Amino acid sequence: MSTREVVVILDFGSQYTQLIARRIREQRVYCEIHPCTLPFDKLQAMQPRAVVLSGGPASVYGEGAPSVDARVFDLGIPVLGICYGLQLIAHLLGGKVERAEEREFGAAKLVIDSTAGIFHRFVAGETTEVWMSHGDRIAAMPPGFETIGASGNTPFCAVANVARKIYGVQFHPEVAHSPRGADVLASFLFEVAGLTPSWTPGSFTDETIAAIRAKVGPTERAICGLSGGVDSSVAAVLLHKAIGDRLTCIFVDNGVLRQGEFEQVVATFEENYRITLVAVDARERFLSQLKGVTDPEQKRKIIGRVFIEVFDEEAKKVQNARYLVQGTLYPDVIESVSFKGPSAVIKSHHNVGGLPERMNLSLIEPLRELFKDEVRAMGAALGMPHDMLWRQPFPGPGLAIRCLGEVTPERVEVLRKADAIVSEEIRAAGLYESIWQSFCALLPVRSVGVMGDERTYEETCAIRAVHSVDGMTADWAPLPYDLLARMSNRIINEVRGINRVVYDISSKPPATIEWE
Ligand code: XMP
Repeated sequence: MSTREVVVILDFGSQYTQLIARRIREQRVYCEIHPCTLPFDKLQAMQPRAVVLSGGPASVYGEGAPSVDARVFDLGIPVLGICYGLQLIAHLLGGKVERAEEREFGAAKLVIDSTAGIFHRFVAGETTEVWMSHGDRIAAMPPGFETIGASGNTPFCAVANVARKIYGVQFHPEVAHSPRGADVLASFLFEVAGLTPSWTPGSFTDETIAAIRAKVGPTERAICGLSGGVDSSVAAVLLHKAIGDRLTCIFVDNGVLRQGEFEQVVATFEENYRITLVAVDARERFLSQLKGVTDPEQKRKIIGRVFIEVFDEEAKKVQNARYLVQGTLYPDVIESVSFKGPSAVIKSHHNVGGLPERMNLSLIEPLRELFKDEVRAMGAALGMPHDMLWRQPFPGPGLAIRCLGEVTPERVEVLRKADAIVSEEIRAAGLYESIWQSFCALLPVRSVGVMGDERTYEETCAIRAVHSVDGMTADWAPLPYDLLARMSNRIINEVRGINRVVYDISSKPPATIEWE
């Protein structure tokens, strides 16, 4: 049983709920998001040290509006309501909420009236910029509450019942547009709730290792599918620390990996760890199934299916395997627990979906409480090499969805060479880690060129480089012209099969990051 201090965030459907969790963890306090429908006894059993009620799109007086069990206010622990959370506090404790005459959206000036509790780090009378996004507002405070901050349009912008440690803010302290929002959250966590800033992803490591050991019986084995990416690598190293050689990693060469990738990943693991690694050369098998296929979704399906077949065959050879390790991250978990239900974003990206059921294995997801940057921090705490932790994401179907048209071994090889040049030049320019993804797509569009005295008639290479935070949205990266020039020159000169290079200047949406 864990003894760590937990803050529970109850989610009422705000687009910013994940950000609240990020900001709290940045203060080195562990927190978890749960749907607002979490039963009260479960909440109580978690023994939270504080509760945050998130914002949300509903109106507290609307039909079917999400609410919270009012006993949460009697637990004697601090509660902070943000936006909808504040309105809910007012509504449930005897105040009044009404529709604001005008919706308030954007920056507002908050005047601090009292430095009680959450405004401990401010000076009375000080003005600070905050971000608002609400249609309802408090018309009357509940008994026992006082105003501690006001903005022009919102007299009850921050309210408190200091004795009961219940606070509410109409603004969003979690967004970057509230520059001192972190001070508000820090005061709530430290001055009001008396927490200790001691949580780090690294400190989470020992706890996770102990939990894995407790779960996996002394003779049982676990299997981990390695992709060479950050998440599966950290998950594998963590499992290895926990159960040693009872972990078997399987890494499949599907014929559409990048140049040298298979060898590099195998070498990195062999040099740094004594992990049992089964490296499977299944290039022929994948490429023969992809023959003649041009439809993007078909390519994905074939690669997913063949991967499961190959993985299954290899995994069956591992005696006494009971567990499958997956590098699921917290954002995926939250998406499926949010009270709104799974997010509307449709990902057909889970290439190994269905694998645990088919293989009759239980899942181990050691990273399911972490955000991506926290996974990197955990990897660093585990002493993993920097390059292993700072790799750009690479899709499961690999170069197949960057090789538009038919995926022949010859065309994949052309693409692989061009892609290696882009990668090399982006690294040489020192941009590899600040860019979300940079790569090439090979287009089945032939055009006429001239090389030396000869006419050429070859395919087109599109360079793609994007900035993104989570892959959900992306902007094309404004790469320096001289870098673009170098990449283009090198690709046309060094890669036979390409005589024209273009740069993709589409953002997502409406385009996507990958071309297929
Ligand atoms: P899109 O192209 O949808 O990509 O903008 C968003 C992010 O997801 C990656 N991606 C995939 N990853 N299997 C994966 O494992 C897939 O089928 C797949 N398709 C796209 C893409 O590289 C980007 O990071």
